[in-house]
Amino acid sequence: MRLTAFIALLFTAATAAATPFPKGDAQTGQKLFAQHKCSSCHIAMLGGDGSAMFTRVDRKVRTAADLVEQMNRCNANLGIQLTPQDEQHLGAYLNRYYNLK
Ligand code: HEC
Repeated sequence: MRLTAFIALLFTAATAAATPFPKGDAQTGQKLFAQHKCSSCHIAMLGGDGSAMFTRVDRKVRTAADLVEQMNRCNANLGIQLTPQDEQHLGAYLNRYYNLK
């Protein structure tokens, strides 16, 4: 029993350390993504739910910094300003596609 708890703790620590967006909440990120209609252009370009933008073979984002940079480039088109906290939330959400460390 104690060993199980220990392993669970280790796992939690490992996953917590693995995220480049420690202050982000993926669920909040998903809401922001919907609220800002982030998919609109991506869907127009690639169809489906637009998530192919993040999974295409020649996707551009390689690092957490790339991801933040790209979301701000996209935002410039939307005419909205993301706060650093929004970036963390969106990063945490989008990292389900990128698995950035
Ligand atoms: C005005 C249209 C438009 C809107 C709105 C938009 N995007 Fe994009 N997005 C693009 C285009 C075009 C690309 C492809 C850029 C490229 O290939 O260089 C892209 C690419 C991306 C990528 C990079 C995918 C890769 O190659 O790895 C991310 C991440 C992204 N968008 C996030 C967002 C987020 C988050 C929002 C909402 C805040 C958003 N986008 C809103 C047009 C848009």
